[in-house]
Amino acid sequence: TSALPEGYYFRDLQKSDKGEVLAVLAVLTTVGDITDSAWDERFEYISKHDDTYTVLCIVDDGGKVCATGSLIVERKFIRNCGLVGHIEDIAVAKDQQGKKLGLRMIHALDCIAEKAGCYKSILDCSESNKGFYEKCGFKFAGIEMAHYY
Ligand code: ACO
Repeated sequence: TSALPEGYYFRDLQKSDKGEVLAVLAVLTTVGDITDSAWDERFEYISKHDDTYTVLCIVDDGGKVCATGSLIVERKFIRNCGLVGHIEDIAVAKDQQGKKLGLRMIHALDCIAEKAGCYKSILDCSESNKGFYEKCGFKFAGIEMAHYY
């Protein structure tokens, strides 16, 4: 039940993914006009902190990135210096939605969080995505508050 469609596979984000990953992320929100140097700088930071950041991609049978998702491992004092996984920026290309890629992505990130020693993983989502995350095994646990600058 955990298989991707034939020919699809998971891999870590690569520096050369800029165009394809940003196009996929555009289904989620405003991406902005990201220069090559801004992309490279952020990519280097994420790569250097790979005990904290994981950015996964699903590549389709044509070799194109069709889904992405991130996990950030937070190091706490509470719960005996516990670790919490934060699942962020889940996006599946419009024409690839409905093939369980989102579900597989969540399960892959969840598995990495558990292996890293996290005692839980959490995420924020809109009301309209609540059913999707419930199908992924998540439970409603409060509300998000935000202060934009
Ligand atoms: N509400 C209720 N159920 C849903 C929804 C939804 N919005 N979306 C999918 N499902 C169901 C599917 O029907 C399927 O159910 P089934 O097993 O009974 O057939 C199950 O959830 C798994 O669906 P997938 O095929 O894995 O969904 P998909 O690959 O299309 O990915 C996602 C879902 C990530 C929400 C995708 O539609 C997407 O990229 N949307 C736009 C961006 C977005 O909203 N991302 C999430 C933001 S929240 C965050 O990043 C933490």
